[in-house]
Amino acid sequence: MNAKELRNAYVDFFKKRGHAYIPSASLIPENDPTVLFTTAGMHPLVPYLMGEKHPAGKRLVNYQKCIRTGDIDDIGDSTHLTFFEMLGNWSLGDYFKEGSIKMSYDLLTEVLKIKPDNLAVTAFEGNENAPKDMETYNAWKKLGFRDDQIFFYGMEDNWWGPAGLTGPCGPDTEIFYDDGRKKCGPKCGPACKCGKYVEIWNNVFMEYNKKEDGSYVPLSQQNVDTGMGLERVLAMMNGVKSAYDTELFIPTIKEIERLSGQKYEDNVRAFRIIADHLRSATFLLGDDRGVAPSKMDQGYVLRRLIRRASRYMRKLGIEGCRMVNISKIIVEQYSDVFPELERNKEFIYSNLAAEEEKFNKTLDRGLRIADRMFEELGNSKTLDSEHAFRLYDTFGFPIELTKELADERGVSVDIKGFEERFKEHQEKSRAGAEQKFKGGLADSSDDTVKLHTATHLLNAALRQVLSADIMQKGSNITPERLRFDFNFDRKMTPEEIQKVSDIVNDAIKRNIDVVCEEIPYEEARRSGAIGVFEGKYQDIVKVYTIEGVSKEMCGGPHVSNTGDIGGFKIQKEESSAAGVRRIKAVVGKF
Ligand code: ALA
Repeated sequence: MNAKELRNAYVDFFKKRGHAYIPSASLIPENDPTVLFTTAGMHPLVPYLMGEKHPAGKRLVNYQKCIRTGDIDDIGDSTHLTFFEMLGNWSLGDYFKEGSIKMSYDLLTEVLKIKPDNLAVTAFEGNENAPKDMETYNAWKKLGFRDDQIFFYGMEDNWWGPAGLTGPCGPDTEIFYDDGRKKCGPKCGPACKCGKYVEIWNNVFMEYNKKEDGSYVPLSQQNVDTGMGLERVLAMMNGVKSAYDTELFIPTIKEIERLSGQKYEDNVRAFRIIADHLRSATFLLGDDRGVAPSKMDQGYVLRRLIRRASRYMRKLGIEGCRMVNISKIIVEQYSDVFPELERNKEFIYSNLAAEEEKFNKTLDRGLRIADRMFEELGNSKTLDSEHAFRLYDTFGFPIELTKELADERGVSVDIKGFEERFKEHQEKSRAGAEQKFKGGLADSSDDTVKLHTATHLLNAALRQVLSADIMQKGSNITPERLRFDFNFDRKMTPEEIQKVSDIVNDAIKRNIDVVCEEIPYEEARRSGAIGVFEGKYQDIVKVYTIEGVSKEMCGGPHVSNTGDIGGFKIQKEESSAAGVRRIKAVVGKF
């Protein structure tokens, strides 16, 4: 069975049982500022698990792109991945434990043809939040499971969620593949790490809502949320030990062999790190809400993945900038399932190449300085946070890189101290950025505010003239001009530029009021307001509406009437990065 067959078999199985297929959501969560990435299939479904009605019904199925970077240090072993696909099915207040367990059992035994003897399952043993899960136990018994195939565990193993700090969660039943070998000891079971049991599916019975105060209250409906790791199951179905030995990674690994002249077998960890991190980076850049490497948030995680991969490429002897070679293979391989990769490939390649080049420039010097720092440690076995931070600040070394260099020398790093410095630094630059923004507007309030409103009109006009897929990729306003970057893969024609100008000037001439409302984020999205996706939204957002032309979530401020802008002129349309165009424009009377 290949990956495509597995995705299709899963989706078809649940479609036949009344589930509607929903496409994978973005890797960057749209409405949850408490997490950076979509980490599970349920994540985009939180409002519906909480009781809101889903337009596709009460039974859903999909495969969801996920990123989990919590165990970035474990990448390189046979099971951990930072990007993975989660096959999932949901009941939103429809079937519950017994129905879900029966469907999982049928899929595993009838479609994937796993022998019931090779399965082991777990259930929640109960605590002060929820009782021992006998309903789950009974459902498995009804299907013929022996007591020695059913294991009870506590909160740590058999409770899932919430995905962020608050939200839907509940006890789960995890399904394991038991390879049939002898137990490693009397305590051996699914929670044991000896390798006899491999987790393949998790069915969560989401009937609780975790509140900010830490309490668990029953939800208005009983839901099922399941997740099966596609890569892991694919490996199992094909009788190989690791996802890296499946068709999903083999082409990438071959390319790394070609570029480095080294053998995978001799450098397993380095190959896996490169293959994993560049797959994640390709998907993050290629997402429709894709981010570019930066110093903050998602962009910073992306930067760390790219830089760590870069260092391992260097270790294997790969010279120059070669990441795009590898990324191209990933884009080609996945584009029929995730067409956004093809759509956004110029953005992927240009950012990857730029980041790689930037890091390569300082990497050698940074490594030399790091060497010296370690030598100077003398008898001390800890690299202090000041030095670790210098490696980050001056040479762009992500902390895990410094940690790995230290590990290789048997030295530890003051990670906590580093994180404190890092946080302080981030807060300073955030404050700086806010200050700059405020300052800019305060200095010459009229002009910048006009340019700001003109930017909204321009954004709307571009969507009208070029494509509804146009999205803001960057914006910068000085008192003199606006600069607006957007995803578009060719030069605009003079006619298109004229049309866009005309639409903006027409809106200015019509003296339309700019209306600001403060409404819940969800309502804003539903009303069709577009947003600047790099931002993080609070629950209540400001929406600026220019009736009939533009509706955008934004902090403001704006002019109160479009007439105040006076006039609008595009001065330049040029390439900003591959797949991204840039417009510079001015306002005033012309
Ligand atoms: N949300 C559950 C998980 O991620 C299914 O394991």
